[in-house]
Amino acid sequence: MEFEKDRRDYIGDIIDIKNNDDPILEIKRWYQLAKEENVPDPDAMTLSTISKDGFPESRVVLLRQINSDSLIFFTNYNSQKGQEIINNDKTALNFYWKEIDRQIRITGIALKVSDEVSDNYFATRPRASQIGAWASNQSQPLDSYDELHNKVQQLNNDFDGKDIPRPKHWGGFKVYPRKIEFWQGQPSRLHHRIRFDLTSKQEWIRCLLNP
Ligand SMILES: Cc1cc2nc3c(=O)[nH]c(=O)nc-3n(C[C@H](O)[C@H](O)[C@H](O)COP(=O)(O)O)c2cc1C
Repeated sequence: MEFEKDRRDYIGDIIDIKNNDDPILEIKRWYQLAKEENVPDPDAMTLSTISKDGFPESRVVLLRQINSDSLIFFTNYNSQKGQEIINNDKTALNFYWKEIDRQIRITGIALKVSDEVSDNYFATRPRASQIGAWASNQSQPLDSYDELHNKVQQLNNDFDGKDIPRPKHWGGFKVYPRKIEFWQGQPSRLHHRIRFDLTSKQEWIRCLLNP
């Protein structure tokens, strides 16, 4: 593998931040642009948590809602990430949208959403995904895929003709950002970076960063 030959120049636009006072609105704007530019899976974001022994752990989850103060994703509360967040609410999120040469980097505090928010979202999921949430003991060892498929079959029989309720171990987390960085790739690695930090007065202050 010769990674040193895998180079390309970024030709991104000059960074444009319209919502100087509200970087969460700006995330929405960039997300909209990513959709318009047909970025595949623009809602896929890397979530980092901290394990009990202090190691960072990362995996991809899907952004499902953006509120005025937070970003929401859904998962199994008993999963590795779920337990890590319950133990340590400090998290990071990262979007990389290659097609538009942009990255958004967020650090913040994660909290469980209300049961109502989780119920409402669960009700919108396809039935097979609802069954999956019951069937998967996420992040626990599995003896075989047959075991999982048999469980799905059994659950399909059990819930036949009935609405599927949300399992209590499944729901959303809200990440409340404290730091948000917008990155726009530029030629010759002279990328543009703007970071917003939330002050103790709940005001966002911004600064440019060296690439
Ligand atoms: C594109 C993509 C989207 C994913 N979306 C989710 C999601 O929204 N929620 C989730 O729990 N896992 C999602 N996953 C699976 C996670 O990356 C991960 O494998 C799983 O949640 C277990 O993580 P954990 O053991 O750290 O808890 C997604 C994976 C990919 C590649």
